[in-house]
Amino acid sequence: MNNTPITDTSKKEGLFCRDLPSKPLPHIGTVLVTGASGHVGGRLVPELLARGYKVRLMVRRRKIAYKSRWTGAEIVVADALNEEHLKTALDGIDTAYYLIHSMRLGSKGFEAADIRASANFRKVADEKHVKRIIYLGGLGDIRSSLSSHLCNRIEVARELKKGKVAVTVLRAAVIVGKGSASYEIMQYLVKRLPVIPFPLQARNKCQPVAISDVIKYLVGVLEFPETAGKDFDIGGRDVLTYRELLKVLAGLLDKRTIFVPFPFLNIGLYTYLASLLTPIPNSITRCLVEGLKNEAVCHDESIKKYFTFEPMSYKEAVLRTRLPGNQDNVPC
Ligand SMILES: NC(=O)c1ccc[n+]([C@@H]2O[C@H](COP(=O)([O-])OP(=O)(O)OC[C@H]3O[C@@H](n4cnc5c(N)ncnc54)[C@H](OP(=O)(O)O)[C@@H]3O)[C@@H](O)[C@H]2O)c1
Repeated sequence: MNNTPITDTSKKEGLFCRDLPSKPLPHIGTVLVTGASGHVGGRLVPELLARGYKVRLMVRRRKIAYKSRWTGAEIVVADALNEEHLKTALDGIDTAYYLIHSMRLGSKGFEAADIRASANFRKVADEKHVKRIIYLGGLGDIRSSLSSHLCNRIEVARELKKGKVAVTVLRAAVIVGKGSASYEIMQYLVKRLPVIPFPLQARNKCQPVAISDVIKYLVGVLEFPETAGKDFDIGGRDVLTYRELLKVLAGLLDKRTIFVPFPFLNIGLYTYLASLLTPIPNSITRCLVEGLKNEAVCHDESIKKYFTFEPMSYKEAVLRTRLPGNQDNVPC
């Protein structure tokens, strides 16, 4: 088991949490990272290991590459839809990160699967006396009519909170990082489409956040125990419209994209267009395109009480994805 303390500077190269104000708490016991094969989970693991935590990863399929990628972590194969699997995964766990979504299943199946997975997780976490759950969900104004994906992210938070375990919820909009589905869709569209039709909804505002900042918040809330049981909005430095996100990205990628107004949001058409141009599964694209109708901006600033660092601007976050040698570029 790798319990390398943070003082080992050779391990700190390229890591995100070097300037985190909190102190590692490796004595707390084993930390479970679900969704470790995903964009966020995969980047969280090396940070926890470097800070000396005993880490268990939960994946649905074991890959040979995992052992060398996360030396020192214990790997458990488990599906959150299966309670028996979760009993093994959650056994002896102090804190569990819940970084799972089922959007791949498409609009017909993802909501039910996510509710079942989170209900199973809450139930087994209770049985196993887990102390904390940390969940990363989506940011959206609950007073408006939310997309089915954002509603589902809120439902998952509610489901996790029904148990005895203290749940910390972080809510984020688009995460900017290589491998993040929402960012990848934008990148492919800008790279491959000289003309982008944008619907009225693309004037809605969004507060994108760099993956490195998301990881800092995820690790930080673990290390500030007083954040247990609380909800926080997290976002980057800029608030931009969805259209501006694409425009800035086009500029940074040296593309002379032309943006043409389009009177309505035809989700089917946009999903079809994106499916021709991006490798992201249609089911995920559809959920994310539907989210354009919602503003995704931080309203609650209480996270600043704990974290004094200035989150990255959108431009910085995009440029970071293009720098070799940091965690943003590690393939999922
Ligand atoms: N990326 C963003 O822009 C963004 C923005 C805001 C919030 N978030 C939130 O951040 C969290 C993580 O997102 P992500 O971007 O890392 O997603 P991701 O890359 O698509 O990863 C999703 C993970 O969920 C796992 N999973 C799905 N169903 C599962 C099940 N039944 N049992 C166990 N594992 C299961 C997947 O495992 P497999 O590899 O086996 O499929 C994968 O590891 C989610 O809660 C998401 O809502 C993401």
